[in-house]
Amino acid sequence: MLSVGSALPSIVLSNAMLAEALDTEEEWIVERTGIRERRVGGSTTDLAARAAATAIGHAGLEPEMIDLLILATSTSGQVMPAGAALVARKLGLSCGFFDLDATCAGFAYGVIVGAAMTRAHARHTLLIGADTMADLVNPNDRATAVLFGDGAGAMVLGATDGGDHLLSSHFGSDPTAAHLLYASHDGFIEMRGKEVFRRAIQAAVDSIMVALERAGVGPEEVALFVPHQANARLIEVLAARVGIPESRTAIAMEKTGNTSAASIPIALDDAARSGRVQPGDVVLLCGFGSGLTWASAILRW
Ligand code: UT7
Repeated sequence: MLSVGSALPSIVLSNAMLAEALDTEEEWIVERTGIRERRVGGSTTDLAARAAATAIGHAGLEPEMIDLLILATSTSGQVMPAGAALVARKLGLSCGFFDLDATCAGFAYGVIVGAAMTRAHARHTLLIGADTMADLVNPNDRATAVLFGDGAGAMVLGATDGGDHLLSSHFGSDPTAAHLLYASHDGFIEMRGKEVFRRAIQAAVDSIMVALERAGVGPEEVALFVPHQANARLIEVLAARVGIPESRTAIAMEKTGNTSAASIPIALDDAARSGRVQPGDVVLLCGFGSGLTWASAILRW
């Protein structure tokens, strides 16, 4: 069983609002990124708990039926305990939990880890991708301030029906490129965008090709492709290179911006609510981000 849910803060930060405060234009942001607005405010763990409650509700589960909680995040807001502890408390859970930090690839990593844990130990794993990225951008830096937003998405991975939803996976990294995207000592994101763009596409294409081969499925069999929502142009190039048409690709960043580990489950929830994914469908997820790190997962819905 797979179920999803998502949560966004209520405060809207539009391109027009940013254009008033920064040396930027609404047209530049839309054309270069595909983002029209992003949601900001609230805490990572509050958003995570809201998204998770929806996913648990959709699964029809009671809290005690969740055996493991994985919170994929880079912005839990505290050193210890793990952000997952706060989320567990908010949800009334007393299961095992841990945080997983693989930046924007965190949810894709989490699906792989969560499926393995579900297979080995847990009846139901609650996986959440949640980040509050707006706090990490220098509001005076137009190169990054226009890109990021806050949000959370969640998935319940269950083994009760005997099904094994993860068909294949692949992950990789290039830590020698860590300097291309990082949080500096003042806590703000620094990014060499063009270089990250170029490398992310190549890494994601290679990773997806390996995952498809391992699953024994071709791109034409993928019913829905949900990549990390960093840039709509990047997603278009990536989908074309992999051989998946736009009609089967989720591009849901127009109203959210880049929400890091939350971006894949938010886009997936959006697609699921629109009826774009049906039981039995092959769903391809691919995340990439600071590290640089990346991961692909192929699921049978
Ligand atoms: O989530 C983790 C993974 N992240 C990504 O995958 C991000 C990948 N990178 C990107 O999405 C894009 O590289 C950006 C959206 C960050 C930038 O787009 P770009 O087309 O690569 O632009 P650029 O950085 O090459 O900048 C082009 C021009 C520059 O001006 P000059 O040097 O040509 O005069 C920038 O200063 O655009 C300028 N610029 C802006 N202009 C208006 C940069 N930011 C802005 C802005 N408004 N907000």
